[in-house]
Amino acid sequence: MFDPDPDLIAALRRARRIVASTGAGISAESGLSTFRDAQTGLWAKYKPEDLATPQAFQRNPRMVWEWYEWRRSIVATVEPNPGHAALARIETARPDFLLVTQNVDGLHAKAGSRNLVELHGNIRRSICFDQRHPAESWTRGEDIPPHCAQCGSLLRPDVVWFGETLPPDALRRAQQAAADCDLFLSIGTSTLVYPAAELPYIAGSNGATVVEINPDATPLSRLANFVVREKAGIALPAIAAAMLGKP
Ligand code: APR
Repeated sequence: MFDPDPDLIAALRRARRIVASTGAGISAESGLSTFRDAQTGLWAKYKPEDLATPQAFQRNPRMVWEWYEWRRSIVATVEPNPGHAALARIETARPDFLLVTQNVDGLHAKAGSRNLVELHGNIRRSICFDQRHPAESWTRGEDIPPHCAQCGSLLRPDVVWFGETLPPDALRRAQQAAADCDLFLSIGTSTLVYPAAELPYIAGSNGATVVEINPDATPLSRLANFVVREKAGIALPAIAAAMLGKP
């Protein structure tokens, strides 16, 4: 049974502006492997770093598109878990709450989070490679990858690939919120990939209370004011209940 630290709950109740930043770990209990878990099945021999790049797409657009179709097919079968739901509950009770995610699985939106910044995009959306025209839908099975209806260039997933810059407005909003908040929750992320990994440090250097929720240690652990060595799907519902009362 997980009992949250009363001092953490007091800090959450006192906080006026709370920001949460999530990584692949919050989706682990929905059945999605984290980014640094081994890939499975026919993709086991590939590393994400070798597929999730513009160069990989230009070299072999069909293979990269099919990898994302495989990932979309998996994402389509999973549901948000109690960790996602707890963050949506906190947002409902605290409208000033902002959720920043590195995840591209769309599970926070599916759980009802609306004050949401998807720093690395969303795998359920596609854009075209040349002009970034959004593609609401595409016919599967003809051209692989499909072509953009507006300019004819190849479609690609609307996610940030290694070596690409993050959407500037999203990053600015996340950095500003981290600078302005008085409590920052870092949840289910290895805190290895910048610029997302910088957010808790921005918050801490501006006087915010920094909380890490992760079963494993990360580079942030020694700087965090609170470290919750627990799975997000266990810790977050208990924290939300202690902070807001039983749902
Ligand atoms: N609850 C909370 N945390 C968990 C859980 C869980 N149930 N299971 C695993 N974790 C932790 C792991 O210990 C790890 O620290 O989640 C973290 C997942 O780390 P990564 O796999 O590195 O994922 P993430 O931090 O999101 O990666 C950041 O790197 O590869 C890029 O763009 C990609 O968005 C990704 C970014």
